[in-house]
Order: sequence, then structure tokens, then C-alpha cells
Amino acid sequence: MSHIEDVKKAVEYIKRKINFRPEVGIVLGSGLGDLAYEIENKTVLSYADIPGFPVSTVKGHAGNLIFGQLKGKNVVAMQGRFHLYEGYPISKVVLGVRVMGLLGIKILFVTNAAGGINKSFAPGDLMVIRDHINFSGENPAIGEENLQFGPRFFDMTYAYDQQLIQMAKKVYEENTIPYREGVYACFKGPSYETPAEINMLSIMGADAVGMSTVPEVIAARQMDIRVFGMSCITNMAAGISKDRLSHQEVVETSNKAKASFIKIITDMIGKL
Ligand code: HPA
Repeated sequence: MSHIEDVKKAVEYIKRKINFRPEVGIVLGSGLGDLAYEIENKTVLSYADIPGFPVSTVKGHAGNLIFGQLKGKNVVAMQGRFHLYEGYPISKVVLGVRVMGLLGIKILFVTNAAGGINKSFAPGDLMVIRDHINFSGENPAIGEENLQFGPRFFDMTYAYDQQLIQMAKKVYEENTIPYREGVYACFKGPSYETPAEINMLSIMGADAVGMSTVPEVIAARQMDIRVFGMSCITNMAAGISKDRLSHQEVVETSNKAKASFIKIITDMIGKL
């Protein structure tokens, strides 16, 4: 089945199940799925029941599409996302974003766990994503042009919405929660990076590294959806500290940071 047919089938299924028009989409990363508990008047659809949806295979990623209200706004949240390292083609990795786009979202919040490259960062820091470097070797816009997703060639100068970044900074300050700002680089994984790779990324201007988000952001921008991205720095990247990296540390640190994380995103949505 082609990518657009896959997406349309999922959209048709969702529309049969629920009469709801979301304005805002949210992709919840590793350990950050608890934001879903803040959503009111919920309808929860399991990925396993939505035609064409892959099932997330990563610990810390539930597999639900959740519709409801957050601060009075109609939202849809992906509790659990798909990664290239799971072996899915990029069309499946961005399927959720494509579906949310066709359901009518105008704004997408993307969150992730990331390794800190910038030496002034520390585990537990929250980073507003200013820009990204696509080192995944893939791009969801490759293939036949499909105008329902948007044009083949599209601008990425302001991939991360300037107004939303300004709003985020205000919300952080109002809550007296410290924040970082920086460039997120995407590697495909699933092995963590080598110190030499992290050194390269540092020289290239990356502040953090992870294995997600960039495909989703590209797909969203093609659909002209405004994007806000935020990373939880769960560990220092390879070679920045002497420690070895572990998935357990990633999950534990994101668990500690999640209350601040949830507060920032809900407050931002309240201000939209
Ligand atoms: N590298 C890649 N992905 C990650 C990391 C990292 O150090 N931490 C959390 N996700």
C-alpha cells in the first residue's frame, strides 16, 4: 500500500471512531508519556487497533493515540513513537504525524530524550530545540510528490516556530524553571554514538543528539504545521563525560524531569 493510502486508511478508521477535530498534536518521547494523564475527556485508541499503525517496540513507549482536551484546547497525543532503528521505513516513522496533519492539527509539539553535547549542559536539563541537523540519512519527503502532504521542495529556515520558541521562554521564566536552547542532531541508532561521532557533531554545531524527532519535524513542515520541539537531556553524550551510556539512565533521568516538562507544555498549550 502506498504511504498516502496507509495514512488515509488510518484517518478513516479514526473518524469512524471519534468525531473530533484536534488543533494541536503532541508526540511524547521516552519516559515522557505521562503528559497523557493530563488530557481530559479522553478517547484512547490503541495503535494495535488503527490500520497501518506500527506497534512501538521500545520500553518506555506506550502505544496509544489519545484525543481530548488540554487547557481547553482540542489535542491529539501520540503516547509512544516509531523510530528508524526499530526497522520501520520512514513512511511508518512519520505515519502518526501525517495522520494528525490530515486530521487538521495546526501545531505540533515534539519531545524527546537526548544526549548532551554542549559541555555547559547537564543531565536533567530541558532544551528548547532551535534547529536540527538531519544525520539520519533519510527524509520522509522522498518519493512521489503528493500534494496532500505538501510540496516536494519546502523551506526549513524556520522549521522550529519562532513565536512558539518565544512563548516557551516566557513560560519557563514564569515557572522559574531553567532552560537551555540548542541544535538537535539526529542519528539513526540504535547504538549510541562514538566519542569521535560526538566530536564531529560538536564541531558541526549540535548541542544534543538523539534518534528521533527530525523525521517527524520534516513531515510536519511539509504539511505546513508549526512545530515546537523540546529535548530532555538525559545523559551527556559519549565521550563528553567518562560514563558509559545506558537506556536505563535515559529512562530514569527523563522520569525525574517529567514534571517540569509536562508543566511547560501544558502552560504553552493554554496560551495558544
Ligand atoms: N544519543 C542518542 N540518543 C539518545 C541519547 C544519546 O546520548 N540519549 C538519549 N537518547
